[in-house]
Amino acid sequence: MRLAVTGATGFVGGAVCRAATAAGWEVTAFGRRAVADARHLGGAAYRPWDIGAAKLAGPPDVDAVVHCAASATDTGVADEVWRTNLLGTHHVLVSFPDCRIVHVSSASVYDPFRPTARAKEHEAPVSRYLNAYAAAKAAAERLVLAVGHRPVILRPHAVYGPGDTTLVPRLLENVRGGRLLVPGTGRVLVSMTAVGSLASACLLAAATPAAGVFNIADSNPVPIDWALRGLLASAGIRARPTYIPAALLSPLARVFPGGRLNRYVISQFAIERSLDITAAIDHLGYQPGPTTFPPP
Ligand SMILES: NC(=O)c1ccc[n+]([C@@H]2O[C@H](COP(=O)([O-])OP(=O)(O)OC[C@H]3O[C@@H](n4cnc5c(N)ncnc54)[C@H](OP(=O)(O)O)[C@@H]3O)[C@@H](O)[C@H]2O)c1
Repeated sequence: MRLAVTGATGFVGGAVCRAATAAGWEVTAFGRRAVADARHLGGAAYRPWDIGAAKLAGPPDVDAVVHCAASATDTGVADEVWRTNLLGTHHVLVSFPDCRIVHVSSASVYDPFRPTARAKEHEAPVSRYLNAYAAAKAAAERLVLAVGHRPVILRPHAVYGPGDTTLVPRLLENVRGGRLLVPGTGRVLVSMTAVGSLASACLLAAATPAAGVFNIADSNPVPIDWALRGLLASAGIRARPTYIPAALLSPLARVFPGGRLNRYVISQFAIERSLDITAAIDHLGYQPGPTTFPPP
């Protein structure tokens, strides 16, 4: 199997490269930076490519592309987020018009204004979002489904594991004096996604005939307080979650929309965010494991 991976220098794309090379696949890895650590890529060949700038000159001959590259930020500059996440996806599609596209999307495409309780794939995209990241991911999904060749869209939520660039760093930003400030009550359920499971789902999607949209997560949702304590402990962070009622935070978040405890963050932590993963199990052969956090 010959595979191209975008976003290979990132958290998810690196895990996909390592899993694919370990399986004996021939992998070409793409990232934005000029050079990349060969160990991070599992020894895959590396080529720099700013996907927001232009289509790829001289694309390699591959069977499938796993498209992980994105501006994965909830407070980033909107123009840059749209440029990378929508225009960049267009450039990926036109660079590889005849091979399977596995598009790593996000559970952020579900409705931010109501709980997603064991959400099924048909419940998204929706018509309104709270930030450019979610809106651009939804627009990119529509584009991939419209013009992609045998497209598969994967929607993970809260990816965790070694090399995490997003979840734990964002939590760290909200640690004050041994307390992690969190919107909500800590009692809602959340679907977490082990990065190794997401990487295996990407490989299954690249190699199997099924096409369509699939939620990807661990086998069962867990209470968010349990997940946060596990993430903090496994990252060696000495802090405990302290909950702030969403009703108190929401008016502040409207006044300071770019703050760390913004409306998007409130929608992710104070409301149930769990996914139904039956379709991935039935059609991709996805085998999820339970949510577990390795010791530091
Ligand atoms: N992490 C999560 O919890 C999570 C949850 C749901 C969905 N996702 C999705 O998973 C995918 C991967 O996320 P991640 O956590 O691995 O993010 P990440 O660690 O920040 O990696 C982002 C990757 O995208 C590349 N990139 C960014 N802008 C680019 C551009 N203009 N041109 C080319 N490459 C560009 C980066 O390259 P350089 O580093 O070389 O600049 C990096 O390789 C994203 O699509 C994200 O939406 C992640």
